[in-house]
Amino acid sequence: MKQTMTMTAKATADAVRLESVTRTYGNVRALDGVSWTFPRGAFTAVMGPSGSGKSTFLQCASGLDRPDAGTVRIGGVDLGELGEAKRTRLRRERVGFVFQAFNLVPSMDVEQNITLPLQLGGAEVDRAWLREVVTRVGLADRLRHRPAELSGGQQQRAAVARALVTRPEVVFADEPTGALDPRTAREVLRLLREAADLTGQTVVLVTHDPVAAAWADSVVFLNAGRIVDELVSPTVAAVMNRWEAL
Ligand SMILES: Nc1ncnc2c1ncn2[C@@H]1O[C@H](COP(=O)(O)OP(=O)(O)OP(=O)(O)O)[C@@H](O)[C@H]1O
Ligand SMILES: [Mg+2]
Repeated sequence: MKQTMTMTAKATADAVRLESVTRTYGNVRALDGVSWTFPRGAFTAVMGPSGSGKSTFLQCASGLDRPDAGTVRIGGVDLGELGEAKRTRLRRERVGFVFQAFNLVPSMDVEQNITLPLQLGGAEVDRAWLREVVTRVGLADRLRHRPAELSGGQQQRAAVARALVTRPEVVFADEPTGALDPRTAREVLRLLREAADLTGQTVVLVTHDPVAAAWADSVVFLNAGRIVDELVSPTVAAVMNRWEAL
C-alpha cells in the first residue's frame, strides 16, 4: 500500500511526461521517439525550424492526438489507457490549448468562444476572472464581436483567453504571439508567466521568437522530430546563439 502511494505521488509530481513518443504521417516521422518531462509549475518554450514537429509534439502531449508509439501521462494518468470520452474529459478539465490557427467557433461571439470550455464542462463562469483575462488581452470592448469581425491578433487573443479562463493545470500554446504587436505579445506572455508563478500552472509555449522564449524557465529545441537541446534560464542572446547552432 505504502509502495503504491509513494509511486502515485512520484508519478503526479510531473505535470506531463512523454516516453518514446513517435508520430508518423505516411512516411513522415513528425515525432521520432521523444521523451520529455514537464515539471509542475514550469514554463517551457519549444523552438525548432518549421516542420520540426512542434505542433505535433504539443498535440500528442495534450492528448489532442494519439501517438503511434510511446506513452503520454498528464498528472500521472496514462492517456493511452483512456477511452475517447475519458480522454476528452481529462483534456477539458485539466488542459488549456491555444491553437496555431486559433480554432474559434465562427457563429459565436468573443465571450461565448472564451467561455465555451466552461459551458462544455458544466462549470460556473468566474465573472471576475473572465473580466480580468479579457481586459488583459485587450478584448473587454469586443465581447459581442464574432471572430470574422476581429483582426488576426484579436482572434489570437480570444484563443489565449479561452485557454486561460478555466485555469487549467497545463496550458499548451502554439505560437500564441505570432500575430501580435510587441506590446500585446508582452501582455500575453506575462499572463502565461503568471499562470506558472502565481497559480503553479504548467505552461508549454511553442514560439519562433527568441524574445518570447526568454520568458520561459527553459527552452527545448526540436529538430526533425527529436529533442536536440535544452537551454535553462534562457536569455534572448543565448536563445539566438543556440538557434543558429541548430
Ligand atoms: N495531419 C498531417 N498529415 C500529414 N503530415 C503532417 C500532418 N501534420 C503534420 N505533418 C507533417 O509532420 C511534420 C511536422 O509538422 P508540425 O506541424 O508538427 O511542424 P511544426 O514544427 O509545428 O512547424 P511550423 O513551425 O511550421 O508550425 C511536417 O513535416 C508536416 O508536414
Ligand atoms: Mg506548428
